[in-house]
Amino acid sequence: MKLILSKCSRIKANIKVGGDKSLTHRGLIIGSISKGITTLRDYSKCEDCMATLEIMKKLGIPILKNKSTIRIEGKGLNGLSEPADVLDCKNSGTSMRLLAGLLAGQNFFSVLTGDSSLIRRPMRRIIEPLTLMGARIYGRNNDQLAPFAIKGGNLKSINYKSPVASAQVKSSILLASLYAEGSTTVEEPSESRDHTERMLNLFGVKIESINNKITIKEKKELAAQELLIPGDISSAAFFLVLASGVKGSKILIKNVGINPTRTGILEVLKNMGADISVTNERNNCNELVADLLVKGSRLNGIEISGKIIPKVIDELPILAVAATQAQGTTEIKDAEELRVKETDRIYAITRGLKKLGAKIEEKKDGFIIAGPTRLKGNICESFGDHRIGMALAIAGVMAEGKTELRESECINISFPEFTEILRRVCGEDNVIEKN
Ligand code: S3P
Repeated sequence: MKLILSKCSRIKANIKVGGDKSLTHRGLIIGSISKGITTLRDYSKCEDCMATLEIMKKLGIPILKNKSTIRIEGKGLNGLSEPADVLDCKNSGTSMRLLAGLLAGQNFFSVLTGDSSLIRRPMRRIIEPLTLMGARIYGRNNDQLAPFAIKGGNLKSINYKSPVASAQVKSSILLASLYAEGSTTVEEPSESRDHTERMLNLFGVKIESINNKITIKEKKELAAQELLIPGDISSAAFFLVLASGVKGSKILIKNVGINPTRTGILEVLKNMGADISVTNERNNCNELVADLLVKGSRLNGIEISGKIIPKVIDELPILAVAATQAQGTTEIKDAEELRVKETDRIYAITRGLKKLGAKIEEKKDGFIIAGPTRLKGNICESFGDHRIGMALAIAGVMAEGKTELRESECINISFPEFTEILRRVCGEDNVIEKN
């Protein structure tokens, strides 16, 4: 598939984005090991979450889904059964790393694998702590890559200092620790998204978090919950940048998760001069939710580095697009993690935006962008990476002339509603999907 994109102007729209991907993964996993019926309303229909759903079914959990709700018949902490087949996480790092933690706690054999991108991504970061807890894990390339096999059970607690600020690593260890004797602590170098902690807490687990040290204090059988999943702020980010960058625009995005560990995008865009108001703030299943109103404004270049990086890690490709429209230089540093995402995102976004005429220079741990530039339409590729694809599609509707985005089907990995919403917001003639 490809998208043919043309410049749009003065956008006015009210939209809703798809359900939060991180919360849907966690709801599926935690609901499955709780006692009773857990429901996930307004869940993410993305391919990554569907990979987790299929795996939980293979582990013996009855799961039904309709258009708006998933119903999980949770069988309790020890209710999973040995899968008959290899478990395929497809493109989803979150599925693989979180499920490795869950499976480390199970007294049975399982194998996790993924697509050509996922089997190249670093897994040592979870295999090491899970092995320290007592799981036996054997993987490719000296236990560093998927596919890997797990024989779990009989875990012991650890105090683990993670070298990376990664919610996937932290969550993997926390899920395993539900099956370990005693109390486990994970320490991270700076704060990453805390959805696992919040959700476990909602399901009845006592968790303490002090100075980036997270400890499971007390665990018992988890109690099923009715979860209402808010819109994904990482998906909203594309429309926040679009409206900010196109003069005279105004977009209202209703019902978006604004967990403080995810709102780096709001902080950064506001520092760049964006006009964003957060209204109707409320608490929903232990998570903050709000409506976001964004208006076109003059943006300025800034430095994005240090502790904010884990809070904006998935939004850096679209922030690079915002930076092409900002006055002055934007420098993104300390973001080497981008090199081990679904693709090397530093290389991919630099290459894509250069093709559209941006002044962007690749650095080891980020990039430098000199703005503002009038982007010019061209042919560019998603590299099979959903966030690169969507960032370049937004750049495409800001650029003069026509942009052709190749391999656009990867957008379904995180945000299957994206193209339809973009067509509605920009006009159907400005966003055309072709085979
Ligand atoms: C996620 C954590 C982040 C993020 C990913 C989703 C999660 O990865 O990039 O899209 O749901 O825990 P890392 O924890 O590896 O940074």
